[in-house]
Amino acid sequence: MLESRLLLLLLALFFAPRPSFSRAPYVLRISCGARDDVHSPPSNTLWYKDSYYTGGIPYSATRPSFISPSLDTLRYFPLSEGPENCYNINRVPHGHYLVRIYFGLVNESNFDNEPLFDVSVEGTLIYSLPSGWSNHDNEQVFAEALIVLKDGTASICFHSTGHGDPAILAIEILQIDNKAYYYGKGYGQGTILRTDRRLSCGARDPKFGADYSANHWGGDRFWDALPTFGQSSDLVVSTKNGIKKASVSPNFYPEALYQTALVSTDTQPDLAYTMEVEPTRNYSLWLHFAEIDPAVTGAGERVFDVLINGDVKFRDVDIVGMAGDVNTALVLNTTVAVNGRSLTITLHPTKGNHAIISAIELLELISAESKTLPDEIKALQKLKGALGLPVRLGWNGDPCVPEQHPWSGVDCRYNRNISKYVIDGLGLDNQGLKGFLPNDISRLHHLQSINLSGNSISGVIPSSLGTVTSLEILDLSFNSLNGSIPESLGQLSSLRILDLNGNSLSGRVPAALGGRLLYGASFNFTDNAGLCGIPGLPACGPHLSTGAKIGIGLGSCVALLLIVTCLTCWWKRRQNILRTQKIAARDAPYAKARTHFNRDVQMARHHGNEHARTAAENGPSLLA
Ligand SMILES: *[C@@H]1O[C@H](CO)[C@@H](O)[C@H](O)[C@H]1NC(C)=O
Ligand SMILES: *[C@@H]1O[C@H](CO)[C@@H](O)[C@H](O)[C@H]1NC(C)=O
Ligand SMILES: *[C@@H]1O[C@H](CO)[C@@H](O)[C@H](O)[C@H]1NC(C)=O
Ligand SMILES: *[C@@H]1O[C@H](CO)[C@@H](O)[C@H](O)[C@H]1NC(C)=O
Ligand SMILES: *[C@@H]1O[C@H](CO)[C@@H](O)[C@H](O)[C@H]1NC(C)=O
Ligand SMILES: *[C@@H]1O[C@H](CO)[C@@H](O)[C@H](O)[C@H]1NC(C)=O
Ligand SMILES: *[C@@H]1O[C@H](CO)[C@@H](O)[C@H](O)[C@H]1NC(C)=O
Repeated sequence: MLESRLLLLLLALFFAPRPSFSRAPYVLRISCGARDDVHSPPSNTLWYKDSYYTGGIPYSATRPSFISPSLDTLRYFPLSEGPENCYNINRVPHGHYLVRIYFGLVNESNFDNEPLFDVSVEGTLIYSLPSGWSNHDNEQVFAEALIVLKDGTASICFHSTGHGDPAILAIEILQIDNKAYYYGKGYGQGTILRTDRRLSCGARDPKFGADYSANHWGGDRFWDALPTFGQSSDLVVSTKNGIKKASVSPNFYPEALYQTALVSTDTQPDLAYTMEVEPTRNYSLWLHFAEIDPAVTGAGERVFDVLINGDVKFRDVDIVGMAGDVNTALVLNTTVAVNGRSLTITLHPTKGNHAIISAIELLELISAESKTLPDEIKALQKLKGALGLPVRLGWNGDPCVPEQHPWSGVDCRYNRNISKYVIDGLGLDNQGLKGFLPNDISRLHHLQSINLSGNSISGVIPSSLGTVTSLEILDLSFNSLNGSIPESLGQLSSLRILDLNGNSLSGRVPAALGGRLLYGASFNFTDNAGLCGIPGLPACGPHLSTGAKIGIGLGSCVALLLIVTCLTCWWKRRQNILRTQKIAARDAPYAKARTHFNRDVQMARHHGNEHARTAAENGPSLLA
């Protein structure tokens, strides 16, 4: 009995779902502009080619820093291809991800190098490259964000700011733990964490997680080396002892991170470090400790306060007491709202004379942008194809976000009720558009204004436009539209301005539009093929339905047939009479039998002859 229970227990253990971190995380690495998959040293990392990608220009790359992966190609996006360009990656499992984008320089001496541009992930602006970035050997050669990907796709876009062509060396999408960097209230609720910096205190060289053989669920983070806080205010301590509780859920820090540290000196007991930051932002600050100094052996021997910009954030930090032992990791995190341009961390000893710190992580909290209503994005994409939108306009990524980089020619409005952006204006006047207006334009339900004036758009005005009830301004002037104005436009009760002048429109203007003119609306129908029916335009002929037109057509054919038949009959009769007269001259009795009839025909012949001559002379006019 006992044995079988033991067996069951063992089986249960064996088959129990393993904790998430033992699965391999999703990993996608792209070497931009590469024709083939590439393996990069030193860890033989696999980078996929992106030759299936059609935008931008693949080119030979110069890597701005030794921390950039050693890849030889990049992809750059000239402004002629539009101001927004994106990588859209599909089939990404739902989860938390570290997304990292490396920048490169085009390997061409006469190229305007060091481009400055903006980077967005899932529609949220995460980074603007600062000038001078390519002369730094640190985090500035990449942008990194920690983000929840829910809809199976990852959209990474580059936005030109007019300073050179965005050039991308590589992209990494690395799955991390679902509670990674859990900082408490507000976590995961539309917040993206942008990595500002990670510093390994007392380390001599910068390292990636891979160099530390770190757990893959940590996302191969980059740790910059911070050998000193400056002015010999501190000392480096290091150990070869193992560190407990380092590589644990949710963040899986590499053990080595805690094997070096900075300790304050007798002359300067406070350990202080100031970082330059962007003002008026919120940050999540992560501080790492482990008691590796042999001088401290038990709880209560080293106690200090942690102050951020002068405010005490953690009182009486006792590493051994809180971590449970020496050589054991202790991670503290706090959120900080920064007003000025600097963030100062001060460790102020309250017991023992020295403070100690192993590492610092600073992440900016960015609220994720709402996106545009998906159906309206689809409608715009249809419109892009139908109108033959020039490449230079771009129209990639999300139309409305990042707010700083909406699509050109698209006006957006935030709709609180649905927490999404909607399109309320289209301004594509004088853009050299050559296509047609698709029915899908009516899926942009929130449009208030459309200006497509001065293009070469042909075809008809889709009657579906009549369902865009919020439409106030419709300017389709100076195009090549033909057909008639759809009756449905009369339903647009908010329409104030309707410019259809300079097209090839014909037919009756919907009566409902004519009535609107009384209420001060401004309509222009001039310079068209033949519009009619409202004051100021010619009167229309009798209104004919398609059925009526077919009827008239058929009627004309029948009439023509009749005329031709009659003419043929008359001709034959005339021949007969002529023959009869000849016969009658020769053979009276036979002729007599027909005389009665002949007279009638002769009478007719007298007129008919005249007719026949006119008919022969004016033949075509009879047929017309
Ligand atoms: C730039 O490309 C040339 C070959 O076109 C190559 O020899 C050179 O090493 C490259 N420079 C850098 C910095 O990668
Ligand atoms: C970060 O700090 C909050 C409290 O400030 C705590 O609830 C949370 O567990 C901490 N996160 C981690 C990953 O330790
Ligand atoms: C910072 O956080 C506070 C409180 O959560 C919030 O009111 C404020 O808008 C945030 N500031 C920025 C720049 O995100
Ligand atoms: C949101 O909904 C309210 C009530 O349902 C409505 O009055 C308001 O116009 C809506 N706002 C927008 C921006 O659609
Ligand atoms: C539409 O654009 C044209 C050309 O830019 C401009 O002249 C016209 O005033 C605009 N129409 C409206 C209704 O604003
Ligand atoms: C409009 O013009 C197109 C050619 O651009 C032609 O195929 C179509 O038949 C015309 N439609 C009408 C209603 O005149
Ligand atoms: C209507 O458009 C024509 C050009 O097609 C222009 O000459 C005329 O001034 C416009 N009328 C009004 C009332 O704006």
